[in-house]
Amino acid sequence: MNNRIRFDYNNLMTDRLGAYGLSPAELEGAGKLAAQASQWFYAKHGAGKMDFFDLPDTDQHLKASLKLAAKCKGKYHDLVVLGIGGSALGTIAIHSALNPASYNLDKKIRQGRPRLWVLDNVDPEKLQAVLSLLKAKRTLVNLISKSGTTAETSAQFLWIRQWLIKGTGRDWSKNMVVTTDPAGGIMRQIVSREKLASLEVPSGVGGRFSVLTPVGLFPLAAAGVDIKSLLDGANQMRKTTLNENPWRNPARLYALSQYLLYQKGCRINVMMPYSDSLYLMADWFRQLWAESLGKRVDNQNQTVETGPTPIKALGATDQHSQLQLYIEGPRDKAITFLMVEKFRNDIIIPRAYPKIADISYLGGKTFGQLLTAEARATAMALAKNGRPNCSFIIPEISPRTVGQLVFLLETATAYAGGLFDINPMDQPGVEEGKRYTYGLMGRAGFENRKAEVEKFEARNSKKYIV
Ligand code: PA5
Repeated sequence: MNNRIRFDYNNLMTDRLGAYGLSPAELEGAGKLAAQASQWFYAKHGAGKMDFFDLPDTDQHLKASLKLAAKCKGKYHDLVVLGIGGSALGTIAIHSALNPASYNLDKKIRQGRPRLWVLDNVDPEKLQAVLSLLKAKRTLVNLISKSGTTAETSAQFLWIRQWLIKGTGRDWSKNMVVTTDPAGGIMRQIVSREKLASLEVPSGVGGRFSVLTPVGLFPLAAAGVDIKSLLDGANQMRKTTLNENPWRNPARLYALSQYLLYQKGCRINVMMPYSDSLYLMADWFRQLWAESLGKRVDNQNQTVETGPTPIKALGATDQHSQLQLYIEGPRDKAITFLMVEKFRNDIIIPRAYPKIADISYLGGKTFGQLLTAEARATAMALAKNGRPNCSFIIPEISPRTVGQLVFLLETATAYAGGLFDINPMDQPGVEEGKRYTYGLMGRAGFENRKAEVEKFEARNSKKYIV
């Protein structure tokens, strides 16, 4: 089977959508802008600001991750990842795409590999609930933080370190691997001080673009994902995204069409996989698209307050939830489907009630057929109502196709940064929130941030609370 992901954008075009669509002339007309964005992308890449683009082409991280993962097999019952945002979402998405939902529950599936827990929040109730299932001696903790300063991950570190010390004594450091910047940051200092095993997040790769570094590769390999094929798939897509002909380059075409639709008022980008396994890819993409493209200033430092809003939905479930709004509500959305052509496991719907036509028509078909029919019907209903939608068609979910999808969406996001003329690699808004948190939690040097919050909250503090 041809395992190449395809991009179907028929339902974005005027041929099917009339005035609500994009015309070939519009796409052609944006050629100059697209060429500028392309030059910008390669200039940034040349300046070491787009190092994610070279990840599939290097095997350094693959080797390091495989080596460590091999040591874990049979040794640890559980692998706990501590990290947040870009340090967690990619792993969660790919694990969910490629491993069965019952992975943690079924020893036969794991074949000696550890259960995987990605703790990407600091909700104490969840943290306690997970920890109560684990034994320190049989647990490997993988702390992931590129900056090494994120308050959530640092707090998790202090908490789990104490738990490891309690459960394993002086040997606690043997049960921890830290994935962080090669040289800078507090976590790198702690690695040296405690003599912890470590992996590297390359300096030129930002958090949300880092899933193909040891950030994602190690925990995924430890959980049995074929990371070599994942990277091969990414590399296959990398070659496609190098095509300067935008009509042959799905990443550029996707970015350009989303950009043009944004200018026409479609400011919301809904990603809607028709596959439970791919649902969390939409979660990962939501962060990638939002944090990369939502910016106050453009590359000339002019205030633009721009950025499409990503939303996630699940087919067919959300046909019975959000779809009504998408079809009849404001014309502010473009929908991106993730469609699977062949499900890895399918179920034949049993035949019964031959005389009741309203149910017997389903007998003998498969659930996969039903889901595909729902996806096609939804795409059609949207298009008929002039609602732009497009599809990434995935022949079958596999490490190779998931690698392609990840790389395609990363490249499209970076390229969209060029079209929106903003820096897709920074996150100044998030950093601002982080500084207020430091202040409130008493971190030295951030006292003025605490004072600022308190002064702000004191304003009319009782007036609007009921
Ligand atoms: O994409 C990003 O840069 C962010 O989402 C980070 O991944 C997130 O804030 C966590 O940062 P760090 O890995 O430095 O702890």
